[in-house]
Amino acid sequence: MSAPNIETIVSLAKRRGFVFPSSEIYGGLGSAWDYGPLGVELCNNVKQSWWRWMVYERDDIEGLDSSIILNRLVWHYSGHEDTFSDPLVDCRNCNSRLRADKLGYQPSDEELKDRTVGEVLPTAIRERRVACPNCGSKDLTEPRPFNLMFRTHVGAAAEDDLSSLVYLRPETAQGIFINFANILTTSRRKLPFGVAQIGKSFRNEVTPGNFIFRTREFEQMEMEYFVRPGEDERVHQEWIDGCFEWFTNLGISADNLRLYEQPKEELAHYAKRTVDIQYRFFPEREEQERQWDELMGIANRTDFDLRTHSKKPEDAEGKRLNPDSTEDLTYFDEATKERFYPYVIEPAAGVNRTVLSVLMDAYSEKTNDKGETRVILKLHPTLAPIKAAILPLAKNKPEIVGMAKAIKRSLQPVLRAVYDDTGGIGKLYARQDEIGTPFCVTVDHQSLEDEAVTVRDRDTWEQERVKVSDLQEHLSNRLKE
Ligand code: GAP
Repeated sequence: MSAPNIETIVSLAKRRGFVFPSSEIYGGLGSAWDYGPLGVELCNNVKQSWWRWMVYERDDIEGLDSSIILNRLVWHYSGHEDTFSDPLVDCRNCNSRLRADKLGYQPSDEELKDRTVGEVLPTAIRERRVACPNCGSKDLTEPRPFNLMFRTHVGAAAEDDLSSLVYLRPETAQGIFINFANILTTSRRKLPFGVAQIGKSFRNEVTPGNFIFRTREFEQMEMEYFVRPGEDERVHQEWIDGCFEWFTNLGISADNLRLYEQPKEELAHYAKRTVDIQYRFFPEREEQERQWDELMGIANRTDFDLRTHSKKPEDAEGKRLNPDSTEDLTYFDEATKERFYPYVIEPAAGVNRTVLSVLMDAYSEKTNDKGETRVILKLHPTLAPIKAAILPLAKNKPEIVGMAKAIKRSLQPVLRAVYDDTGGIGKLYARQDEIGTPFCVTVDHQSLEDEAVTVRDRDTWEQERVKVSDLQEHLSNRLKE
């Protein structure tokens, strides 16, 4: 079983301290969310899991942490200043502001010819008489591009001083491309190799929503894998398969994941091919096709990025295409004595969407002997915010409490454990089940005699007696199962 809808997760997340609406005491800020005590642990575990898989378990990937605010020229040459926009329309009847591309409009091949990313031709909207979903009116304004990058100014400059204008990055990827030469020379890498980065990105989304699915501030896990042209298609497919497997290894059911081949009218201007991994975020929707949405994208970006940020390329008249760059971002192959721009394969995932899919997929309900229905979050042990809860059976017995607290302290160096005595044992078990803690360790009167505790499994509710001296090793092994 998985969550019947996102709303179920919204209320669980708030009730148990995973995610809170941001700035709530001041009325909130549309589609901004704060990660609470359990949410921050879950996010960290997702990021660590990705980093371990991407960087530590391979021999060909380096890490990077680049600035959020970069020189504005980065976004000029990447194409974001010109093309990173959504087509906006207003409904003259109800004043809703809408994304034209989400109104069911599909451009024809003819219209696609001169199209830049996200651009919808005004006539198309008029001719197809698209209606506003909120009120049904067809009285819509013509689409106009709305750039999604957040603007700010560096230094004590005036608001209208264009020389101080900068953007909050809308993707982490560009920080990698502009450091290509630095990483190549310092790490002495040979193709193929990759650079991974995790960090915040910002987009002034026109229609944010669906909880943490689409927000204006979010976190990305991106990796740019540099390959020889000609090897790009094979390597691209390998990363598509590898990423799909990574999600299933995190415990997400393959039934709730699918691959989506982006059609040519959806492809970004730099992409030769992009395949999304989609998750069934909206199982409650009747129409099958509308149940799915993007969890991550895996793009073949060709050599667009390294070429556009390089000082070398020239037009037909010998004029430099990028007169601002100081670096040649080509790669010299010692074996063939050839110099070329590597192609880039980019697996790009969202931390927040991964967290949402993991929560939805882990959600289950179980009915106990008394007929009470309990929520159990069957999180993969690697992702569970707390690995073991140490519970004293009698909180008024100092010897039991002392022993439970000592056990918690002894486990803490190797795994995240908590001590809890704020309720009866049934309630404490239920609370840990609901937040996905794989093991509860109960200290009872007998423990004082036999130096053993009861270890209860979240998923089976089975119990076993384990010697305190073996507990650390026992739990560590079971967490790896
Ligand atoms: N560098 C390529 C790139 O940024 P993208 O498909 O725009 O590609 C990658 O973003 C991933 O980032 C998405 O698959 C999604 O998981 C996440 N993402 C993008 N926009 C988001 C938003 N507004 N809120 C939450 N996550 C977002």
